[in-house]
Amino acid sequence: MSSSTWLDKDCGYRQKICWGRRPPLMMALVPYDQTSLPVLSKFHDASAEFYFANQRLRLTQDWRRLGVAAVVWDAAIVLSMYLELGEIELRGKPAIELGAGTGLVGIVAALLGANVTITDREPAMELLRANVRDNVSPEQQGAVTVSELTWGEGLERYPKGGYDIILGADIVYLVETFPALLQTLEHLSSDRTVVLLSCRIRYDRDTAFLNMLRQKFSVVEVHYDAQRDIHIYKAVKSQNKQEL
Ligand SMILES: C[S@@+](CC[C@H](N)C(=O)[O-])C[C@H]1O[C@@H](n2cnc3c(N)ncnc32)[C@H](O)[C@@H]1O
Repeated sequence: MSSSTWLDKDCGYRQKICWGRRPPLMMALVPYDQTSLPVLSKFHDASAEFYFANQRLRLTQDWRRLGVAAVVWDAAIVLSMYLELGEIELRGKPAIELGAGTGLVGIVAALLGANVTITDREPAMELLRANVRDNVSPEQQGAVTVSELTWGEGLERYPKGGYDIILGADIVYLVETFPALLQTLEHLSSDRTVVLLSCRIRYDRDTAFLNMLRQKFSVVEVHYDAQRDIHIYKAVKSQNKQEL
């Protein structure tokens, strides 16, 4: 699939987020104009800088070429902050990030000691690899693998139940991907796996995904960033309900 096809596919999402949480249908159909929306202006920056895990990070962005996968979303910033709080033990743990985009969350998890597989769809790989190379020292790069993972596809390439931690920032937004995303979470999780999903709830369908998730996992909200309106949900396979 070419980059442009991929960009087009994500356009609906970009239009809708421009207009707040519950836009009237007509507003959502207004063509997206990249220059007239200050709320998105940070996405036009060629890079975004952060300070996590005692390190300055500089993530390259490329909104015009790759769209949603090539900018750092608030959900990634909030999840990185949450990881830094140390609520979840990362040191030496096998972790995987889904829909990583620029890779901020996976990079922070690696810098905090996890062995991380950072994944997204094929068009995101080049930028993702560059961001890992630029932000993870050669000594730490052994702790990071960048790998293509389209939800629900080729899951046999990833060990069933092989990860202690699964991370996802702003990956709940395309209703047609929900069954595949859920299938992927189930495949990757064992009964000791902690799934952390960092979400902005924009539409009822986002809540619908959480309800789908609750059929297979026990889900609790563990953090809310009011300034950015981002929720972090922790999920474990249902038989571990008491551990939440
Ligand atoms: C809104 S972006 C979030 C990127 C990053 N996690 C962040 O928060 O900055 C959603 C990400 O999900 C990825 N994505 C969407 N559908 C996917 C699918 N079917 N399989 C794998 N990744 C997907 C996109 O490529 C994109 O990187």
